[in-house]
Amino acid sequence: MKDIRAIRGMHDILPRESNYWTALENKLFRVARQYGYQEIRFPVVEYAELFSRSIGENTDIVEKEMYLFTDRSGDRLALRPEGTACCIRAGIEHGLFYNQIQRLFYHGPMFRHERPQRGRYRQFHQFGIEAYGFMGPDIDLELMLLAQKMWQDLGVDHEVVLQINTLGNIESRLKYRQCLVEYFQRNYDVLDEDSQRRLQSNPLRILDSKNPSLREVINAAPRLFSYLDETAQRHFDKLINMLEQAGIAYVINPNLVRGLDYYNLTVFEWVIREQNGLAQNAVCAGGHYDTLVADMGGKAIPAIGFAIGMERLMLLVAKELLTVKAKVVYLVALGEQAIVTAMHIADRIRTSGDTVVLVNCNGGNLGVQLKRADRSEADIALILGTEELAKGEIMIKYLRDDRPQLSVKIDNIIDFI
Ligand code: HAM
Repeated sequence: MKDIRAIRGMHDILPRESNYWTALENKLFRVARQYGYQEIRFPVVEYAELFSRSIGENTDIVEKEMYLFTDRSGDRLALRPEGTACCIRAGIEHGLFYNQIQRLFYHGPMFRHERPQRGRYRQFHQFGIEAYGFMGPDIDLELMLLAQKMWQDLGVDHEVVLQINTLGNIESRLKYRQCLVEYFQRNYDVLDEDSQRRLQSNPLRILDSKNPSLREVINAAPRLFSYLDETAQRHFDKLINMLEQAGIAYVINPNLVRGLDYYNLTVFEWVIREQNGLAQNAVCAGGHYDTLVADMGGKAIPAIGFAIGMERLMLLVAKELLTVKAKVVYLVALGEQAIVTAMHIADRIRTSGDTVVLVNCNGGNLGVQLKRADRSEADIALILGTEELAKGEIMIKYLRDDRPQLSVKIDNIIDFI
């Protein structure tokens, strides 16, 4: 039989790595909660239409990256490629947007059938923030401060830089789109195949192309700035002013258009300064999507959010910062009677605090069990043999230094630890 392996672009997180993941997640959850954001969880599978209607029929995600399947009831389903659409679906379904503001966060796996590379996977994890019922630009600033706080807590604030742009409203974008199509049509021969295809379906995305041979034609393209309506211009100016006052460094990138169709007004990405062979450089991305909730059948309510690519963030964070050193003890139990008592003592120790207690299983003599203790993470071994049991004592052996062994009354073990 052929070996069954993990699917390309999807990865196991092994025990030596999973501690780092938990620590990273906890740090992000903590900051989000401190800003008053509450966790929402939604399913990994949704009706495919949810994504085609929200993200846009002509986007890369919907056109070629979704994991689609028909289930046994004949329903057309998709593994979620992102969380914003799911968040809105859940919010509408449970009346969360009805005369309410909401500050929400979520975390979990997302799926896109992309070409796997360092920092780009087919199953990856996002930590997302979504705020509903706020016009901005104060909420825009809040999200940027929140992200910055996360970078500071993780010691990566010097490794990322904030890029921002404004997409204006839908009407000004349509006017701009037409002008852009005319411009690129005049330069059709310079475009690569991908951009030629996008010219009809999603011309703004040509601006986002990473192909260096297109840089010149993109730089000379008309700018959305000149097509902005007054409200959008004012929103952006105010935001810039607030960012200056708050001391958040930013770069205006007029070519930042985002790959999902639902955005308007402010869009932003925190990009990695040094790419170190990373296929993609955005570690966090988002923006306003003020018409999407109504488009999906909910109340007309403004919205803004972002999502962090957890794998990309993990590549930046120093592991020392994510190392949580737990106190670990190893309980050596010699004899059948001792094992039951050992399990009982272990439970008392666990109940009394955060200590990790490994109880020796699979038997073995003293030497064998101490060897296992040594190979574990434990700093001390607690030894319980027939003699100790009879005296109501337990022997303490230090595993990582040469302090002498000592005996402690079983009743006093919690205080000792
Ligand atoms: P997105 O730009 O598609 O936006 O993804 C957000 C982040 O997820 C990216 O900046 C990147 O860090 C990470 N990411 C995306 N695709 C992959 C991949 N294949 N492998 C590894 N990491 C990846 C969204 O998903 C929007 N829902 C963000 C948002 C929330 N906008 C408003 N609210």
